[in-house]
Amino acid sequence: MRRPMIAGNWKMNKTPAETKALIEDLKAIENRSGAEVVVCPMTVSLFAAAEALKGSEIKLGAQNVHFADKGAYTGECNAASLKELGVEYVIIGHSERRQYFGETDLTVNQRTLKALEAGLKPIVCVGESLEQKQQGITNEIVCLQTKVALLGVTAEQLKDLVIAYEPVWAIGTGLTATPEDANNTIRAIRGAVEEVFGAEAAQSLRILYGGSMNDKNAHDLMAQSDVDGGLIGGASLVAEKFAGVINFN
Ligand code: 13P
Repeated sequence: MRRPMIAGNWKMNKTPAETKALIEDLKAIENRSGAEVVVCPMTVSLFAAAEALKGSEIKLGAQNVHFADKGAYTGECNAASLKELGVEYVIIGHSERRQYFGETDLTVNQRTLKALEAGLKPIVCVGESLEQKQQGITNEIVCLQTKVALLGVTAEQLKDLVIAYEPVWAIGTGLTATPEDANNTIRAIRGAVEEVFGAEAAQSLRILYGGSMNDKNAHDLMAQSDVDGGLIGGASLVAEKFAGVINFN
């Protein structure tokens, strides 16, 4: 059984003080679905988040991690610091990082390996652009992204890893993949993982959907056989909406 995961990617929103306030609201939410709930604030808000989350079941995630242990990488953040703050998960290869900050499949792989080595659990993002969708090559794109991201990952490490399928055209646009399309693409990703790691490992791997997922559409998306959770942007910034996603059932 794959435990559902609902993760909030707060992107570049919420100052440390706002982070604390939102977490206090989230802690008051009754979790009736039993999903694992994760929040991923900005790097600079992680300390405030870790403090506010003490004693809570809600897990802490970061939005990026560098692939070097330390050194001359101005503006980056290393895995050891995230671990020290109590971060458990880290989003890697989000399409906004790929689009605006030169992230490639190869750097996604490097970051993934470093995160795992440091004991962080990667949430690796894959997803096709609108042009790629229109060309009918969605599955080829996401499967290649997945396989490159997982190069050198061991079967044991895979147990700590989560994949998020986020169609780029659905992010922040209000457009969502239909539940059936999301499920089919996620099944293709699972198939790609099976080719490398075998059926059992692929069946145990959690694969989330992301892209305009909210309290209104979460139920139908989560009802699909292979959709194991959500990576939520906009709707994770408002406690009542995020509560609706957490309680998708
Ligand atoms: P939205 O939910 O705002 O579309 O963002 C999705 C996303 O990018 C989560 O990582």
